[in-house]
Amino acid sequence: MYELIEKKRDGYELSKDDIRFFIQGYTHGNIPDYQVSAWLMAVYFQGMTRAERAELTTAMAASGDQIDLSAISGIKVDKHSTGGVGDTTTLILAPLVASLGVPVAKMSGRGLGHTGGTIDKLQSIPGFHVELTNDKFIDLVNKNKVSVVGQTGNLTPADKKLYSLRDVTATVSSMPLIASSIMSKKIASGADAIVLDVKTGAGAFMKQYHDAKDLAESMVSIGNHVGKNTMAVISDMTQPLGKTIGNALEVKEAIDTLKGSGPDDLTRLCLELGSHMTVSAGIADTADEAKKRLAANLYNGKALERFQTFLESQGGDTRVIDHPELLPQAAYRMELTAGKSGSVSKIAADTIGTAAMMLGAGRATKGSEIDLAVGIILHKKVGDPVRRGESLLTIHANESSVEAVKEKLYNSIELSDKAVDPPDLIKNTIF
Ligand code: URA
Ligand code: CA
Repeated sequence: MYELIEKKRDGYELSKDDIRFFIQGYTHGNIPDYQVSAWLMAVYFQGMTRAERAELTTAMAASGDQIDLSAISGIKVDKHSTGGVGDTTTLILAPLVASLGVPVAKMSGRGLGHTGGTIDKLQSIPGFHVELTNDKFIDLVNKNKVSVVGQTGNLTPADKKLYSLRDVTATVSSMPLIASSIMSKKIASGADAIVLDVKTGAGAFMKQYHDAKDLAESMVSIGNHVGKNTMAVISDMTQPLGKTIGNALEVKEAIDTLKGSGPDDLTRLCLELGSHMTVSAGIADTADEAKKRLAANLYNGKALERFQTFLESQGGDTRVIDHPELLPQAAYRMELTAGKSGSVSKIAADTIGTAAMMLGAGRATKGSEIDLAVGIILHKKVGDPVRRGESLLTIHANESSVEAVKEKLYNSIELSDKAVDPPDLIKNTIF
């Protein structure tokens, strides 16, 4: 290990064998944290070549269980978002692309953050099972083209250990380390092809566009280098996606979108990501053609029908589709009204996310409980005109007094006297 630290410190390229030796040794506890810390800091300053990143990703993916999806016919495309506020795309995309025949075998996390992950959201549907045997999971994907289950097994233990060490050595923000960390988990999950949604803006991991672009390029390069067809969309996360933030509220928003009446930005992002998934799966020749076919299925009921099949197949109560009141409901609703007339110029995604978390919608630590019912419904988005006294948003809470949350929300929204253009939703696509 001493030699590997020295080599990286002096700017030389590590070989495949070097990287395998290091990841295997570290996973098995044969290399101490202090040496790995020094190596991480050397990487932070020296970076990693494309070949090194690909080798690190492959070695981390191989450090634990690797999911075998080969019993599912077709090209399995996974979608991954780098995380934002109010992002419900998976719940919509899974049945939507499945309605065109794209197999979706999704293992999702519960996730830390402002709201729960896809699995938490699905658990707000009465009866829905997120734990299936592997055989059942594969059966469902072959039969219905869609199944979503919670992550099990020991995936990428090397990444878990490295991430904890990065966290305490000021090396989390190293681009090659971030890119290989994310991609190792995607590769261990068994995808043949990967569509990435890299968010940028206040509510994203990558606040600056140029950092988001760097990360997207690095992940696309790693994916293609290890033989997985990979592309990325860079999308806006200055304001929350869609109009709701909260678990059950986002399930309802997903259902509305599958009925063809969802918020414009959420619908557009789903069609964009879905079109690339469809092309990657070999089911359409061009993204434009795919987008047309996907949009048709949003408006002719086929995507919604597939969602119903998906719920049924995992024990979920399908009555929620027409009776969203069967989803967990918060006890109190409060309006936040505009203090003046104007145009909405800012809805800070990070602050809105924190407010949702204060209501109980998200997990602060791994073990904490989340409240599936609470959250926020925005009535306005950036660019919308608003009159004084009109409601900007509704808070769904399980406490009668949420003054601290209200104050946070007031501070997160800005109104301008001038007309404001909404932000560009899709900033770039990287192949
Ligand atoms: N997300 C990850 O999974 N890994 C990182 O290193 C950073 C964000
Ligand atoms: Ca949303």
